[in-house]
Amino acid sequence: MNKYGVDVSFHREQFSIEYGAHVIGPPTEVRTIDSIRSSLLDPAAHGPEKLYAIAMDVYHQDDEVILKDNCLLLGIVAYNEGRIGKELVRSQGHIHKISSHSGWSPPEIFEIWEGTAIIYMQESAQDNPGNCYAVLAKSGDWVIVPPGWPHMVINADVTKPMVFGAICDRGYEGFDYKDVRAHGGLAYFPLVSDNGSITWEKNTNYSGGKLIQKSPDSYDHFFHILGDNKGSLYEEAVRRPEVFSFVPYAGDHSSAWHNFLP
Ligand SMILES: [Fe+2]
Repeated sequence: MNKYGVDVSFHREQFSIEYGAHVIGPPTEVRTIDSIRSSLLDPAAHGPEKLYAIAMDVYHQDDEVILKDNCLLLGIVAYNEGRIGKELVRSQGHIHKISSHSGWSPPEIFEIWEGTAIIYMQESAQDNPGNCYAVLAKSGDWVIVPPGWPHMVINADVTKPMVFGAICDRGYEGFDYKDVRAHGGLAYFPLVSDNGSITWEKNTNYSGGKLIQKSPDSYDHFFHILGDNKGSLYEEAVRRPEVFSFVPYAGDHSSAWHNFLP
């Protein structure tokens, strides 16, 4: 058991996510640098060939029924360290497709397990992206991406891998990349200097879009009921799945998404 409630580990050499006893999950998929080139500041940049390993739908066998009954799913992603040209190692950016069971683009909850991450999100992938947020998250932090917002996950430390778990809508129908790719990526590129300090370069294919750098909100609207001594994201999701019903059923909480602050 790791301290996040699921017995999994990232094997850096094999670049795979391995499961402990009674933990069920799919074979690891690996995303390569070539698969995200169209969203890079420099599409010809050099970087690690393998950017991240991903396993969607991981659970302890005892939790299968409760997760399925509540339409929840745990995904696990492990990021390589290093740089992609001048940029940090990151995903290309996507929007969750609208789920036909709910009619909503589902939100997502991240919990950082190892290393340091930036969850970058913006209100829109149209020409004016609205407010843009770079949320710096360390081990144990939770971050919510609200419905319909384009986002990417970044390894904020060039020297170490980063691993996170995410609670998702089990009815998710994949990702929409169209508007992000049409703009050559999201509205800001995360640049890193030789000493590891991070700066943001505006993507000139967008107009407007203020960047706000912050730490994660406490999301009291959703999580106050868990109290101050809450467990890990996975533990709480299987213990109190009703608290997480806003992920698959975002429309039941539509007021919470107005003026949402990550
Ligand atoms: Fe996502």
